[in-house]
Amino acid sequence: MSTDPASAKPAAAANPLWGGRFAQGHAAVMERINASIGFDRRLYAQDIAGSKAHARMLAAKGIVAAADAERIVEGLDAVLAEIEAGRFEFKVALEDIHMNVEARLTELIGPAAGRLHTARSRNDQIALDLKLWVRDAIDGIDEQAKDLQAALIDLAEPHAATVMPGYTHLQAAQPVTFGHHLLAYVEMLGRDRGRLADARRRLNESPLGAAALAGTSFPIDRHMTAAALGFDRPAANSLDAVSDRDFALEFLAALAILAVHLSRFAEEIVLWCSDGFRFIRLSDAYTTGSSIMPQKRNPDAAELVRAKAGRVVGALNSLLMVLKGLPLTYGKDMQDDKEPTFEAADTVSLALAAMAGMVRDMTPDAAAMRAATARGFITATDLADWLVRTLGIPFREAHHVTGRCVKRAEDKGCALHELTLAELQAEHPGITRAIYEVLTVDRSVASRTSFGGTAPGNVRAQAAEARRRFLA
Ligand code: ARG
Repeated sequence: MSTDPASAKPAAAANPLWGGRFAQGHAAVMERINASIGFDRRLYAQDIAGSKAHARMLAAKGIVAAADAERIVEGLDAVLAEIEAGRFEFKVALEDIHMNVEARLTELIGPAAGRLHTARSRNDQIALDLKLWVRDAIDGIDEQAKDLQAALIDLAEPHAATVMPGYTHLQAAQPVTFGHHLLAYVEMLGRDRGRLADARRRLNESPLGAAALAGTSFPIDRHMTAAALGFDRPAANSLDAVSDRDFALEFLAALAILAVHLSRFAEEIVLWCSDGFRFIRLSDAYTTGSSIMPQKRNPDAAELVRAKAGRVVGALNSLLMVLKGLPLTYGKDMQDDKEPTFEAADTVSLALAAMAGMVRDMTPDAAAMRAATARGFITATDLADWLVRTLGIPFREAHHVTGRCVKRAEDKGCALHELTLAELQAEHPGITRAIYEVLTVDRSVASRTSFGGTAPGNVRAQAAEARRRFLA
């Protein structure tokens, strides 16, 4: 029992919708912890759509009179119009979106409003509302991810032959093309969209009509409401229907992976803008200056995308913890599913928009990228491959010979192709002048024609193929 006198004080009169047995209202702090209207008001359109489908079904099955159902549907449309016009007063005392809408409906149409909740509970209602919301959010995020793919492909195409260092361990490894690098993110986003599509397919079963948990004795038609709301079928088990939130978990898991992908790209943008790289330039539209250092152009948007992945991963963790060990069926714990779900969706939506904006804004510096390939003996693998191909020596031995050539160039302070033939032959007598051809970055890149490889012709074909696969 609370010892805080403030929390013992009723905040309001008993709830008009379920207050039959309750003499007084909630303590102020109870109202604060219990009410969800502060965030679930976002579900108003879904809540009203679900109620309209339910009312029509009740009339079709003769459970409520057709005239009452008609008044309910018209009244719900009026409530929707009020909310959309910003004329609706949301009341914390009415706890959540369901009761706010129903209370206003009662004001508008009178006692007929009380028939809407026949054969239904807030438990199937909230499961329905959130499912409908997540389904819409999936469609919106898919559209944005597709737009980012389009921006990446548009930039990759003209840079199919723009050489840059490819990295492993953030050490220059082998030359690749900038277009090839961008298309790597197009693939990641394609899988992200695939995960969202999978989640959407699985979530598309209607919980409506599961009622509180056990179903109902009224002769409802769950197939009818499911079809009216665009679901593939009604959920098969009423207990599962009111307690399942794995659809939200799958959504958050897909968003978490997507956000992690964006954070990797964001980090590359930060690197590429930095003095060590200067591979790209972002305009004033996506950078900020420093209040003290006039030379600065900071890639804040990319840094924030990098940071925001944490929130999305946090949202997934948060909902996993809400559901862990929760006994069937509904528990009020589940009200805490909404804020993480909304926050993750908002965050990913913002991050996708910022990334698409930056991709369209960035100016690649092809000369700086090429200059970077001159460092780091980036064609060493090509030298080793030449020894294998031309002299027939085993790759392991070729690796050693190449290592000694790299050491020589390092000691001399020059690039591999700047070693003289005599110097190269000192490491292996079979080396001929022909080897110089494979030591240039353009030859290196052009030679990587294996499927999925970085040769410019491949990259152009990959970009065209990506357009067909993802943007059609
Ligand atoms: N606001 C609640 C939620 O978000 C709605 C369902 C309430 N159900 C109940 N039996 N109290 O989960």
